[in-house]
Amino acid sequence: MKDYSQYFKGPNLKEAKKRRGEDVHHIHDAFFIPQEMVNVGKGKKYYIHTYGCQANERDSETLSGILEMMAYQPTTEIKEADVILLNTCAIRENAEEKVFGKVGYVKNLKKKNPNLIFGLCGCMAQEEVVIQRILQKHPHIDLIFGTHNIHRLPELLKEAMFNKEMVVEVWSKEGDVIEDTPVTRASKHKAWVNIMYGCNKFCTYCIVPYTRGKERSRLMDDIIEEVNQLVKDGYQEVTLLGQNVNSYGKDLDDGSSFASLLEAVAKTGIPRIRFTTSHPWDFSKDMIHMIASYDNIMPAIHLPVQSGNDEVLKLMGRRYSREQYLELFHAIKEEIPDCTITTDIIVGFPNETEEQFEDTLSLYQECEYDLAYTFIYSPRAGTPAAKMADNVPLEEKEQRLYRLNEVVNEKALKQNQRFLNQEVEVLVDGPSKRDPQMLTGYTKHQKLINFKGNPDCIGKRVMVKVTEAKTWALKGEQIEQD
Ligand code: SAH
Ligand code: SF4
Ligand code: F3S
Repeated sequence: MKDYSQYFKGPNLKEAKKRRGEDVHHIHDAFFIPQEMVNVGKGKKYYIHTYGCQANERDSETLSGILEMMAYQPTTEIKEADVILLNTCAIRENAEEKVFGKVGYVKNLKKKNPNLIFGLCGCMAQEEVVIQRILQKHPHIDLIFGTHNIHRLPELLKEAMFNKEMVVEVWSKEGDVIEDTPVTRASKHKAWVNIMYGCNKFCTYCIVPYTRGKERSRLMDDIIEEVNQLVKDGYQEVTLLGQNVNSYGKDLDDGSSFASLLEAVAKTGIPRIRFTTSHPWDFSKDMIHMIASYDNIMPAIHLPVQSGNDEVLKLMGRRYSREQYLELFHAIKEEIPDCTITTDIIVGFPNETEEQFEDTLSLYQECEYDLAYTFIYSPRAGTPAAKMADNVPLEEKEQRLYRLNEVVNEKALKQNQRFLNQEVEVLVDGPSKRDPQMLTGYTKHQKLINFKGNPDCIGKRVMVKVTEAKTWALKGEQIEQD
């Protein structure tokens, strides 16, 4: 059994000494479990529902790690749980409404089991308006904690258990990088690795810089130590996570950059490296060279464009023009010709005209992306765009989304077809959900593929011949190894 003793210190929140940066502390000893909480979960179960992006997926793995260290067992049945946590997302209104729907459902469970602990964390917890709404309408929530307070879960849970009042701990203080928290990873072969937290870009529509705080990088040594451990544990793939990975190291003042980090991670020998998300603005030539130079850095880049029109880009605060974006796009394609590029697009930004939207369509025609995540603009309270007047009716926005998605689908099929009859390396995730006779996994180019193969290969990399290309996935057959 793993030695957990280092975590069971008394409540000693000694601030680690300042390392670098004005007020960013890299703290290695902030996490602990109070003595009385060590076995509190014995015979009990926890359930976590994760909304939103990979940052939240990774945070949920930390929450799981912490709860399991207090002897809780995971369950996928919400009705069986003694602790329920909703790890929430605030990116669009519909994301928030989904969460409030679940909050209502858990209310009924709490009526049946008054000892149930119900917590809400993640990005919505960082929003003043959400806290107000919860205090007024959802007093059955026991615990609310923010994105900077995850390592405090044992103490917060303790308070929630012995307190009749709702426990709310949301720090707006955002300067720290907390290391050495436990983790229970969802996969045994693919791992998320945070390289930085927060965002300083302040795109005018976006809530993330407020919910996740300022941009701050983990130290390179800490990241490499984590990846080395993953290599030892047999992991096949890491995805380096940050809202804007290109900015990695800029706050550290020690010469590290995302390009240098990519190289260091490549040298650990981990078979596959991915990263997300790259903001087009500070995507360096060094980064392109690095991706081209190392076989274990995957040729698949997510490069959100948001709009193809200069005025809209300016109003969005994206800091690049259509021309600059295209220049970068083509520079990547030139040096890494088979690289897949995917994107994010928002339609119906306030006052977007038909002509401006058509610029997005024409940019899409030029880039012929492998895939795009497309969204209707959703006003977020407190962001600059939310204050802009908007004369575009919702129906019009929906029409634009539909028209854009037609092109997205057409290009997705076209881009998948280029792999037809090729032999591709696939990291096998498991049986396909739709057809358990088939296996499913991803190619180096981040293409989803379903194929006939040997179930012993789950978690391994195998060669597969592509026999069919569809809009959303490839189909294939495993090539027998001698
Ligand atoms: N850090 C990443 C994006 C994180 S949010 C980046 O900058 O690329 C993921 C996507 O959600 C964004 O790229 C954007 O397309 C979309 N998004 C963000 N805020 C939104 C809003 N208010 N309304 C609609 N879509 C939004
Ligand atoms: Fe949001 Fe822009 Fe930061 Fe991405 S870069 S998280 S879109 S503010
Ligand atoms: Fe949502 Fe927060 Fe991620 S708002 S998209 S969970 S950073």
